[in-house]
Amino acid sequence: MASERSAVVRLVSEQVSSVEELSVLGVVGAGQMGNGIAHVAAAAGYVVHLQDVSAAALDKARATIEGNLARQIKKGALTEAEGFAVMGRIHTSTEVAPLGAAQLVIEAATEARAVKLKIFEGLGRVMAPQALLASNTSSISITDLAAHTDRPEQFMGMHFMNPVPVMKLVELIRGVQTSDTTCAVVTAAAERMGKTTVLASKDVPGFIVNRVLMPYINEAAQALYEGVATREDIDTGMKLGTNVPMGPLTLADFIGLDTCLAIMDVLYHGFRDSKYRASPLLVNLVAAGHLGRKSGRGFYTY
Ligand SMILES: NC(=O)c1ccc[n+]([C@@H]2O[C@H](COP(=O)([O-])OP(=O)(O)OC[C@H]3O[C@@H](n4cnc5c(N)ncnc54)[C@H](O)[C@@H]3O)[C@@H](O)[C@H]2O)c1
Repeated sequence: MASERSAVVRLVSEQVSSVEELSVLGVVGAGQMGNGIAHVAAAAGYVVHLQDVSAAALDKARATIEGNLARQIKKGALTEAEGFAVMGRIHTSTEVAPLGAAQLVIEAATEARAVKLKIFEGLGRVMAPQALLASNTSSISITDLAAHTDRPEQFMGMHFMNPVPVMKLVELIRGVQTSDTTCAVVTAAAERMGKTTVLASKDVPGFIVNRVLMPYINEAAQALYEGVATREDIDTGMKLGTNVPMGPLTLADFIGLDTCLAIMDVLYHGFRDSKYRASPLLVNLVAAGHLGRKSGRGFYTY
């Protein structure tokens, strides 16, 4: 027992303890979110190792980052030399080994618990003992994920918003085990990437943003289902009535209706409270394959 306790103390005292110790970051998963995280991290001056099991995803990520940098250069937000330097700091690989050089690894792979646990197992074999680990999960319990890593005190949620280079927010989530030092270093790293942070200090389903957003979207779907108003009037009502850039049904089509449904289910099962029950309209649209913009049809047709 005493030796177990001292092992934990050693781990905490040896962890990366200031943002100045970070120079190399790892990003696992090169999809929509991973390429954006690699972009903002490299723009902040970090050397980035971006890893994915799919070589095609890595190629696509490089092309996306190059396209986004080219747009910034065209707008005058960046010089060509700066854009070139950002790309030069991003290294891609299908191998996990290069992530061993990172002091902080951000996991942004597919939203499936089993996939993430397998990734953490592989990372445990290559990451330095003092390195920190963060997950970009939208809905999986940080405490649960942390418990399945070799460094639960050095683990936390780092929830970037989509699209990452544009959205200012990073929602940070503390697991039960997260150390104060981990929280401070990861917060400072997000700020160095130009982001404003908010902290969900309790790891509860939906954290802050999705806890509030998804029931709002679901209620809009339910109002449409009940025939309260047309989809256009629900969206215009909320857009002009609450001064948001788009109405809830348009926003849901952007996010993906399958994602909205999955998060409602996480809230429903996590709180075991019927107030989070998904609207039958949302359930049916997903069953029909009408997933929003990405499938060409959701609440609207594209
Ligand atoms: N899309 C969003 O709006 C959004 C917003 C915030 C957070 N998130 C979260 O970010 C994460 C990624 O979402 P996304 O939208 O980028 O997904 P995505 O499907 O675009 O990309 C996921 C990537 O992970 C890769 N991958 C799968 N298994 C892997 C493995 N074992 N090792 C390495 N790479 C692997 C896939 O090849 C794919 O390229 C999820 O946890 C999601 O919940 C998404």
